[in-house]
Amino acid sequence: MNYKIVFFLCLQLSAGILGKKKRIVGGDNVHIRQIPYQVALKNYTTNQLIGGGTIISASHVLTAAHCIYNKFLSDIRIYSGINSILSRKYESRIIHVHIYEGFTGKEEDYGSYIHDIAVIFLDEPLELGTFRNKVNLPRRPAYVGQKGVVSGWGFTSYPSNALSATLQKATMEVIDSDLCSDLLVINILDTQLCAFKRRGIGACRGDSGGPLISNGEIIGIASFVVPCATGVPDVYTRVYEYNSFIMQVTGITID
Ligand SMILES: *[C@@H]1O[C@H](CO)[C@@H](O)[C@H](O)[C@H]1NC(C)=O
Repeated sequence: MNYKIVFFLCLQLSAGILGKKKRIVGGDNVHIRQIPYQVALKNYTTNQLIGGGTIISASHVLTAAHCIYNKFLSDIRIYSGINSILSRKYESRIIHVHIYEGFTGKEEDYGSYIHDIAVIFLDEPLELGTFRNKVNLPRRPAYVGQKGVVSGWGFTSYPSNALSATLQKATMEVIDSDLCSDLLVINILDTQLCAFKRRGIGACRGDSGGPLISNGEIIGIASFVVPCATGVPDVYTRVYEYNSFIMQVTGITID
């Protein structure tokens, strides 16, 4: 029998599932200075982690659509330049989000979201520098074997309720999509990307929306995993396929 348990990596903060937050499994501590593009999306009222995001310009953050779809945006703030997930410095308000038009908010028949990407517009531009900075959009398609760094505050083990206090990172490798489809028994689309290192390393709940970075470019947005670090690849939104969407809504150019 084929059962596909899939975890969408953003935290649904509805009652009762608070304990399901996950962070990167098998990662290393990292200081925000090394990953200054990483932000946290948190519920302003509860200070709880919702997911991750990536600074792509002083006014724009990239995240997974499922992290913000159907949520009260006024409850959500963007936290940049933080190491501790509890920190509220520096906090930005959201004025607008642009969810990719094709995102349905429904899990498609094979159990995953498609077009899991959204751009968040901040009410005031960030002061970019040592602790918060932008990454570039990818200039070329991600290739099999390409290394990328995933980061976030999600769970460090599974199954477990252990929260990560500080930012974690792990180096992953882009995996062939056909192989990934076979391993996950899920049809991986051209707009998705799989990354893997080995059993015991990978993204987990709370890491969603966060970046997979290679050579200063964001190649993936954490979308879903077969929980967690169980020896199969994790699935990311393939950012390259959305370059024109991102450029169109933000006015960012690729230099
Ligand atoms: C934030 O937390 C409050 C209080 O638990 C809850 O009512 C609200 O739905 C949450 N908002 C989001 C966007 O998760």
